[in-house]
Amino acid sequence: MDLKRQAALHALQYVHSGNIIGLGSGSTMTLFIEELGALLKSGELSDIVAVPTSEETAEQARQAGVKLSTLDEYERLDIAIDGADEVDNNLNLVKGLGRALLREKVVATHADEFVIIVDNTKLVTRLGERGPLPIEVVSFAVDSQIRWLTELGCVAELWLSENGSAMLTDNGNPLVRCWFEDGIDNPEYLASLIKCRVGIVEHGLFLDMATKVIVAHETGITEMESAA
Ligand code: A5P
Repeated sequence: MDLKRQAALHALQYVHSGNIIGLGSGSTMTLFIEELGALLKSGELSDIVAVPTSEETAEQARQAGVKLSTLDEYERLDIAIDGADEVDNNLNLVKGLGRALLREKVVATHADEFVIIVDNTKLVTRLGERGPLPIEVVSFAVDSQIRWLTELGCVAELWLSENGSAMLTDNGNPLVRCWFEDGIDNPEYLASLIKCRVGIVEHGLFLDMATKVIVAHETGITEMESAA
């Protein structure tokens, strides 16, 4: 079975009937939602309410028969499940290559548990070594943000879609992708700098947020737990 599906199936043991859950975005989450829908249909799970992190996830959940709601209605979520683009040994993550980083981060901060599902290709020693760090910016003065980000020691560029227009998030904002040649030296410091920059909406570093990471390997599933 596909490794992403194995991780998704494993995560379902942490979802219980009556839970209010956050649903992340991406291909691993598509499989999770499919399997969640199957358990709801068979009656093994019931009374699940989900807060989606993207329009795409919302549509997938609707089709799977998952009841949807919002954070306006539910202040706390029992658990949020999500994929990731990179995971380091300290459970720090790069996320957002599915364009949903802002809503994913908001949903994660409302959840008692934040469980990440990945296959082992996402494991890294240094964040940023596998791919770019996505950053959501306002559309006003994008070039100024790109110049500023470049000065932080990366190659930064506007993320373009195949037709050459700026890739937009569900919030209507463009994204900048930042490539760090040898990975990100000090993610905490980088995150603190980016967070203070006016015009940057959010970045894809999810530091000290995941409570559990489920990793599917060819040889089986492993779990990484946060110390807290
Ligand atoms: C979505 O914006 C991302 O944060 C995803 O969690 C990430 O891109 C993982 O996607 P896959 O499950 O498709 O690898």
